[in-house]
Amino acid sequence: MPTSLFPSLNRTLTALGVTALCSLSSFAASPSWLTAHDAEIKALLAKMTLEEKAGQMTQPNYKDIRDLADIKKYGFGSVLSGGSSDPKTGNGQKDWEQMVRECMELSRQTRLGIPMIYGVDAVHGHNNVHGAVIFPHNIGLGATRNPALIQKISEITAKETRATGIHWIFAPCVAVPRDIRWGRTYEGYSEDPALVTQLGVAAVRGLQGADLTGPHAAIASVKHAIADGGTQFVLKAGKPAIDQGDAVMDEATLRSIHLPPYPATIDAGAGTIMVSFSSWNGVKLSGHKYLLTDVIKKELGFEGFLISDYNAIDQLVPATDSTQPLESNNASGQVVTRNYKQCVEIAINAGMDMVMLTKRYEEFIRSLVELVNEGRVPMSRVDDAVTRILRVKYAAGLMKKDFSTQVDAKLEKEFGSEEHRAVARQAVRESLVLLNKVLPLSSSTKRIHVAGRGADDLGMQCGGWTIDWQGKLGADIPGGTTILAALRKAVGSSTEVTVSRDGTGAAGASVAVVVVGEPPYAESKGDRAELSLDKDDLATIANAKASGVPVVLVLLTGRPMILGDVVDQCDAIVAAWLPGTEGAGVTDILFGKASPTGKLSFTWPRSMEQIPVGTSKEAPLYPLGFGLTY
Ligand code: BGC
Repeated sequence: MPTSLFPSLNRTLTALGVTALCSLSSFAASPSWLTAHDAEIKALLAKMTLEEKAGQMTQPNYKDIRDLADIKKYGFGSVLSGGSSDPKTGNGQKDWEQMVRECMELSRQTRLGIPMIYGVDAVHGHNNVHGAVIFPHNIGLGATRNPALIQKISEITAKETRATGIHWIFAPCVAVPRDIRWGRTYEGYSEDPALVTQLGVAAVRGLQGADLTGPHAAIASVKHAIADGGTQFVLKAGKPAIDQGDAVMDEATLRSIHLPPYPATIDAGAGTIMVSFSSWNGVKLSGHKYLLTDVIKKELGFEGFLISDYNAIDQLVPATDSTQPLESNNASGQVVTRNYKQCVEIAINAGMDMVMLTKRYEEFIRSLVELVNEGRVPMSRVDDAVTRILRVKYAAGLMKKDFSTQVDAKLEKEFGSEEHRAVARQAVRESLVLLNKVLPLSSSTKRIHVAGRGADDLGMQCGGWTIDWQGKLGADIPGGTTILAALRKAVGSSTEVTVSRDGTGAAGASVAVVVVGEPPYAESKGDRAELSLDKDDLATIANAKASGVPVVLVLLTGRPMILGDVVDQCDAIVAAWLPGTEGAGVTDILFGKASPTGKLSFTWPRSMEQIPVGTSKEAPLYPLGFGLTY
């Protein structure tokens, strides 16, 4: 790697003691890929009206666009498909490709013909789309500690995403989750900033590739800046609320734990950064001028653009402050939302470049135009934002004269291919952490009893952010292999496989494999005050144990759970995290086709008193880095 291109990356990595990165063979573009077209951008900017500039700074959610002609009318800089915002025609690769093509073409019919950039959450593969390969969630990838593999996975994710015409991926999440009660813990690679930094850089390289203008690369969005993983546990109306919360900490802590992935991924060429919903010491990041402008843009030298999170700027001035109605009509009959204009003013002046929103796009554009005309937002700030957005579009090849929305036919063929699945299976294998005692199993034993609600459920295996935003038990995820299906395939013809959901009926078998854990969730819906296994899962384990056979527990979870007595009831425990569609990666380890190499990327607490990490001096159940092998 030509080290001179990455001065601050090397500085950061050396400080963190990370060296493995330097052994990666290929690398993404240097940060200068972003500024190469600045002269053309200046000329283009001179032709743009204020309304057109405001349009570039707007990113509505596809399903909230009232009339697709609005794409042309307002010249949106981007459209996103947020969780569960699928094409109207269906959910296959072709449906997505057509939906995106239609949007792109409408944007090219604007006066200046500036194409939009479509964005999506392909956070563990192109996870919204039927037939895509679903990789393990980041918590599992953290346990692999294999940056070359994460780079490869990200390359495949970019390819499957480009097979649907999409150029921009809201990943990697480089949160450093410090409190596993947080519902987004699984989106983070590790509680350790050095590991998150190393794998975050590998992901940016894989997504963006060596040739961003080529048909296989996608722009990354490193998220969620900054300290989304450091928010405090509080109860709101009796319910745990960590997500979108407040990171209460001094600047030295923010800089040593939560900031490190940013300089490194910026130096690796990341084109965009998504700003967190959360706050730092009571000030929302979406309006945090010091962190957004002074730190990210000036100090770290970020030249791409900042995108706000989903309707996040609406929270900057709470609408509850006023006694006026939430929405009213102005003299021209347009909808005006209480305090919204002020939210826009704070966010844009703080340094936000593009705003992710749902229905409020006209109002956003109108508010911004008024704010500039009233002198409350400087035109220079708008020009800076649009320059940054156009930089990314130039760099992604969207502004090329011969740019075509046509998808590379090779990518369509490779979508969900066996080759891609083989990489996912490797990732599953490497992500499994053996926590306790004996394995492997013999594949020629007389009878294996399989139990637990996770054994034959791809929805549970994949977790949140799969097909739907929240994921779903029993979800329809074409092309995947459940652990039960993989196990049936892995055993010889002389081995009988019996099954019960609740663990009964195992007596007489040589072993019971029990697959339990957490049902799918995403974001705040996964915030939990208590992390014991569910009572049905505990009963399943107890039933299997009562049959008098050895019990192998496979945990499908988005975080370490409090195991209590379960540790003594089971003869082996495997943390499989949220492995995705390739269940055979689990059986590869169970039957010793490969030895476990996964190492915990999070501390596994013995009790709730040991959460957040570092609260207790007592030894955890399993420390960070723990993992047995054969
Ligand atoms: C999440 C982001 C995501 C965005 C767009 C938000 O709710 O916080 O991680 O990228 O939605 O779907």
